[in-house]
Amino acid sequence: MNRTILVLAAGRGTRMKSPLPKVLHPLLGRPMLSHLLEAFGELKGSVRTLVVIGHGASETKALCESFGAETILQQPQLGTGHALMCCEEALRSAGEGECFLTAGDAPLLPVAEVERLWERFSASGSEAAVVSMELPEPGAYGRILRDSSGRLSRIVEARDASPEELAITEVNSGAYFFKSPIVFDHMRRLKRSNSQGEYYLTDLFEELSRHGKAAVIFSAPEPERWMGINTQAELAGATRLLRLEIIERRMAAGVTIMDPAGTWIESGVKLEAGVVLHPFVRLCGSTHLGTNVEVRSFSTIIDCEIGPGSVVKENCVLEKTRTGENCTIGPFSRTREGTELADEVRLGNFVETKKARLGDGVKAGHLSYLGDATVGAASNIGAGTITCNFDGRKKHPTTLGEGVFIGSDTQLVAPVKVGDGAYVGAGTTVTKDVPPGALAISRVLQKNIPGWATRREKK
Ligand code: UD1
Ligand code: CA
Repeated sequence: MNRTILVLAAGRGTRMKSPLPKVLHPLLGRPMLSHLLEAFGELKGSVRTLVVIGHGASETKALCESFGAETILQQPQLGTGHALMCCEEALRSAGEGECFLTAGDAPLLPVAEVERLWERFSASGSEAAVVSMELPEPGAYGRILRDSSGRLSRIVEARDASPEELAITEVNSGAYFFKSPIVFDHMRRLKRSNSQGEYYLTDLFEELSRHGKAAVIFSAPEPERWMGINTQAELAGATRLLRLEIIERRMAAGVTIMDPAGTWIESGVKLEAGVVLHPFVRLCGSTHLGTNVEVRSFSTIIDCEIGPGSVVKENCVLEKTRTGENCTIGPFSRTREGTELADEVRLGNFVETKKARLGDGVKAGHLSYLGDATVGAASNIGAGTITCNFDGRKKHPTTLGEGVFIGSDTQLVAPVKVGDGAYVGAGTTVTKDVPPGALAISRVLQKNIPGWATRREKK
């Protein structure tokens, strides 16, 4: 059977009151539409995915293409029924098949459940099916009106409903199954005679019922996963749900999370057993923490690979950084893209690194900037060391050998090299390469003027 998924994502999402198109709003770090398209990737067998786009079409299109989904432009947007009409040509040319249609604003859709329902739909012989849910507070959802045999007679939108209809707690999730192309024969009869002057997709079901083709109704057991996101508050609610689910899965896999309510772990993050997370830690993107890594409070780690046994102390911001085993970072360290730490490296307070490769056992304990730098094993970087890597036009490299000692308050004016085992005296501005085993020092000789301070005091 030829299967197609239709995702409606052309609407502006007026109720979000935000300039960003609704389906691009991030849910736990990724656009809500990405969650949905990624989940559809788990469906068995070959499925074609078509996304109807309109508001924010160019950004939405790029996102869809990154998931191999096709897009159809709906311009202007005349309602959910019109959005389906826009798919007619693409679906007719594909021949007979079945479609699952959902809104792009329902990012938590349980795909295994969709699969199960799809099998039931195929077996039912019906032309259409609606996924309903039971909501104690049905709010703005369309209400489900059943006929005497329990099939769908009509869906009435909340804004067009009578007080009795508004009291119904079985609502339309906004997800449907159809047979195609037959559905389009019925679509032709839809009108725009409602409070919004739109083509309502939901009016299709009254048409079907009237022609003796009433749709079957599947009740969703987990309504919170089928709910659409229409407001910022609903977005925050869905984020909370997803966040706590991820945290529970990680805890079940042996991660210690001291404060589940105050921990942020995005869905692409991998954590090995024995990881310990203190309160208020944020782990983002493709971050991977090895066995027994400990992350302390108020640290943010984005797209990093942190090796086993390493400790990230309080208030660090680590980005696109890789570390070996047993490194100690922070408190207050900032590592930027291209930072690579070997084993047992120590970075301390107010140390910033960028494109810096630090060998085994390197120590940079305090107040330093290491950019475009390579530091050999067992070297020591004194407090206040700065790589002057930028000449106003270009970046230049600094290369330190193994076992190098850099005294405090040193400037390394790149490009520059310091050989193995060399020493650089405190306060030196290194402008020339330092040979292995040498001492480099560039200070004005100190002069003491006896009694100077005492004399000034007396004046
Ligand atoms: C819709 C249903 C309602 C259901 C609810 C579930 C209709 C008329 N109503 O209402 O019964 O309970 O979903 O969440 O269908 N869209 C387009 N093109 C358009 C208009 C909308 O692509 O011209 C897209 C939107 O981007 C959105 C989806 O369709 O992703 C649903 O539209 P929305 O305005 O959110 O519909 P609801 O009012 O929530
Ligand atoms: Ca909606």
